[in-house]
Amino acid sequence: MTRPRFSRKPALVRLLSVAALFSIILIAIQSSFFTGSWTPVNLDIPILSHFQSSLQQCVANRGLGLTAHIIDHCNVILKFPQGTNSTWYNEQFKIFEPMEYKYDVCEAILLWEQYRNMTTVLTREYLDSRPDGWFDYAAKRIAQLGADKCYNQTLCEEYLNLTLPAKPPFHPRQFRRCAVVGNSGDLLKTQFGEEIDSHDAVIRDNEAPVNEKYAKHVGLKRDFRLVVRGAAGNMIKILNGSDDEVLIIKSVIHRDFNAMIKKIRNPVYLFQGIVLRRGAKGTGMKSIELALSMCDIVDIYGFTVDPGYTEWTRYFSTPRKGHNPLQGRAYYQLLECLGVIRIHSPMRAKRKKDWSDVPSREMINNAHRAALRLKKKQAGLEGGLGQFVNCKVWGKSGPYGTGPVSGSTDMTDTRKDSNYNRWEIMPFESLRKEARKHYMQMEGVSLYKMDGNKLDDLVCVKHPLKSEA
Ligand SMILES: *[C@@H]1O[C@H](CO)[C@@H](O)[C@H](O)[C@H]1NC(C)=O
Ligand SMILES: *[C@@H]1O[C@H](CO)[C@@H](O)[C@H](O)[C@H]1NC(C)=O
Ligand SMILES: *[C@@H]1O[C@H](CO)[C@@H](O)[C@H](O)[C@H]1NC(C)=O
Ligand SMILES: *[C@@H]1O[C@H](CO)[C@@H](O)[C@H](O)[C@H]1NC(C)=O
Ligand SMILES: *[C@@H]1O[C@H](CO)[C@@H](O)[C@H](O)[C@H]1NC(C)=O
Repeated sequence: MTRPRFSRKPALVRLLSVAALFSIILIAIQSSFFTGSWTPVNLDIPILSHFQSSLQQCVANRGLGLTAHIIDHCNVILKFPQGTNSTWYNEQFKIFEPMEYKYDVCEAILLWEQYRNMTTVLTREYLDSRPDGWFDYAAKRIAQLGADKCYNQTLCEEYLNLTLPAKPPFHPRQFRRCAVVGNSGDLLKTQFGEEIDSHDAVIRDNEAPVNEKYAKHVGLKRDFRLVVRGAAGNMIKILNGSDDEVLIIKSVIHRDFNAMIKKIRNPVYLFQGIVLRRGAKGTGMKSIELALSMCDIVDIYGFTVDPGYTEWTRYFSTPRKGHNPLQGRAYYQLLECLGVIRIHSPMRAKRKKDWSDVPSREMINNAHRAALRLKKKQAGLEGGLGQFVNCKVWGKSGPYGTGPVSGSTDMTDTRKDSNYNRWEIMPFESLRKEARKHYMQMEGVSLYKMDGNKLDDLVCVKHPLKSEA
């Protein structure tokens, strides 16, 4: 494989092409200044401006009162209508929630489109490939280790092995439609159960009960469950009778979780993703990241994202006090109009399911390419915009042999009657066509994030192209 890294070009050629480009830009700026004519160099901005107008229209149609105000080809402000009640008080900053939020749409589109190609499960190949993966990073994923680094790798392996597959157990584009079900009490106002169950995969979180009592509201299908530290104690009861449901631990592994894992037949993994410093946070966002890394279409249910919330309710227990309702709502609306999610809620239940006012996939792809070119241009880079443009570190899949893909060799007995590895050992040929196509286009390379929400710090791991899945 030849990786499109242009560092291989001789320095002189690079210098000359940069100089040539620079003069082209200068000429282009001048000519467009004087004649107003387009040149290929500044085509990206019109593409993005056009996209902004579609986004604005989408927010107007779907935003339940929110409006989008364009600042330039990348920046937009989402405003709540006058008279909106901002009742959540931020103790730290001594203010009520603001009524408007500014977003860099170019960054947002780059970030969320990237998720469609990512692996969001922690694997051994990732820890092996990432510089200081075991020593530094692994230690951050273990609670109560008693040290901030893995001075003793064997000890860290003992903690992590139960949840550490050798390579990605799931694939980008594996499913067409996925439902992400939050826990909002709003779910009781609608009967989305059957609709939720009609998805190819359903993702739930934490202690969400799934049973006959709630079936017509939340459905019965169970495929993935994202859990936070602290939910371990209840999992045995919740997972009883649902052996194939995949458990994904959001933050860190610890003794209690491991003790629980040893008793259940379900496959368990650790989440591998970014930390969103702003925008809506919490398990909901992680569920969406997970869903995007496997599914083409992500429908969300039971997220409190429509106007009028002052507290977060749960469909199975008493309300909790909410936080940041307006900020969260604005961000989710942005995501819907970027084609990332589709929002389902009581306020939209009666609407005809019509997504024609959301920018089309083609338009989003064009905007994505334009945003990427623009970003690289600003960073002084040109060319090399292939699928590996953001790979910072390269690794090779290890010689892990045949055994189970997950690091659960000693779990074979516990899991012998469950179908837990239905995805792990899925032969390449039985994957969805789109997933196989993507795998070939990516030349068998899996992409993982390092830390933070930087776009260009991916760990890329190459797998052999044949007999893989
Ligand atoms: C705003 O909140 C106050 C107190 O919670 C309430 O009395 C008022 O009706 C609300 N106004 C609107 C427009 O919802
Ligand atoms: C490293 O951890 C393992 C497993 O807990 C233990 O058996 C071993 O003695 C430790 N090694 C050192 C040098 O402490
Ligand atoms: C963890 O799993 C790997 C891969 O199966 C194995 O090589 C290693 O010995 C295991 N470590 C421990 C401490 O069990
Ligand atoms: C699991 O459910 C079955 C019946 O559905 C019950 O008999 C059993 O006690 C339950 N086990 C646990 C650990 O809750
Ligand atoms: C995602 O994968 C597709 C191939 O399926 C590739 O064409 C595209 O460049 C990738 N995009 C990103 C942002 O990685």
